[in-house]
Amino acid sequence: MSKKPEKKEVETTGHSWDGIEEYNNPLPRWWLWTFYACIVWAVLYTIAYPAWPLLNGATPGILGFSTRQNVAEEIASVEEANAAINDRLASAELTQISADADLQSYANNAGAAVFRTWCAQCHGSGAAGATGYPNLLDDDWLWGGSIEEIHTTISHGIRNETDPDARYSQMPSFGTDELLSKAEIRQVVNYVMSLSTEPNDPAVVEDGAVVFADNCASCHADDGTGDRTQGAPNLTDAIWLYGGDYDTLITSVSEARFGVMPNWNERLSDAEIAAVATYVHGLGGGE
Ligand code: HEC
Ligand code: HEC
Repeated sequence: MSKKPEKKEVETTGHSWDGIEEYNNPLPRWWLWTFYACIVWAVLYTIAYPAWPLLNGATPGILGFSTRQNVAEEIASVEEANAAINDRLASAELTQISADADLQSYANNAGAAVFRTWCAQCHGSGAAGATGYPNLLDDDWLWGGSIEEIHTTISHGIRNETDPDARYSQMPSFGTDELLSKAEIRQVVNYVMSLSTEPNDPAVVEDGAVVFADNCASCHADDGTGDRTQGAPNLTDAIWLYGGDYDTLITSVSEARFGVMPNWNERLSDAEIAAVATYVHGLGGGE
């Protein structure tokens, strides 16, 4: 066992806390040199790389390193690499994209990325939609499920005020504007329910059919299957944009709905729109 050094062998600093004294040993060599090396490294680093904050930005450093520049270069090189296929995609006939396996798989991948960035907040990350935002996975289409129709919907949007070519239609507010009485609305809602599920009050379905023929068939068709040229939903398939329970239907008919989708032709390139249309068309409901 090594003995503790005697007090007098090592100098103390003279500091003492509750009788504990502080030795005055020199710093270990290895530690000191590491410390000096760090200082030298830090000085050289601030000369070589962006370091000292200035009013606008920072000292650039003599190596000209910039993460922003690196990202810009990477983006530029990806765009350059994809320029040819993007041109092909933008100029391809929509219906011919699926005939070209490379183009199709590129469009699907690029379209999925566009969808995650621009569409998922309304239509859901899996495109299954939400109340008022249609499910894009099924084959129930408001405005049409062919690739051309999907492409038009995405390019121009729906009921927005920014694109004069936006898809447009407006269901009257039958209750708010007093076009139908409360009793008539109750009747027609029961008739609408009878088309797909159980009516709330079967006794008024027959009267409801008359109200429907007079007020609704012009848009939703005589048999209630809807009209895609007007974006009027099919009311017979038990797939609901806003809901198929009695109270929700009363609201839909009384106040009407006015779903708005932005147009994307100003925000996305032709290739991106073709890609996301291909992606949506390929989700399962495409016609
Ligand atoms: C701000 C919300 C919003 C965003 C973002 C949005 N949509 Fe929509 N979209 C809607 C609404 C609302 C409707 C239904 C409009 C209606 O009731 O007719 C719709 C309808 C559609 C339809 C028609 C569905 C059918 O049944 O005919 C397609 C296709 C579509 N969206 C695709 C997209 C794509 C692709 C994107 C991304 C580029 C996108 N949407 C972004 C709100 C949005
Ligand atoms: C001028 C055309 C038009 C007329 C007339 C019309 N509708 Fe509609 N209806 C629409 C459109 C368009 C929508 C979709 C609105 C949207 O997506 O925002 C709609 C939506 C609905 C919905 C919601 C469907 C869902 O999936 O949630 C119901 C229910 C409905 N209509 C019932 C009726 C009934 C009942 C009448 C007659 C009393 C009627 N509509 C008359 C155009 C019309």
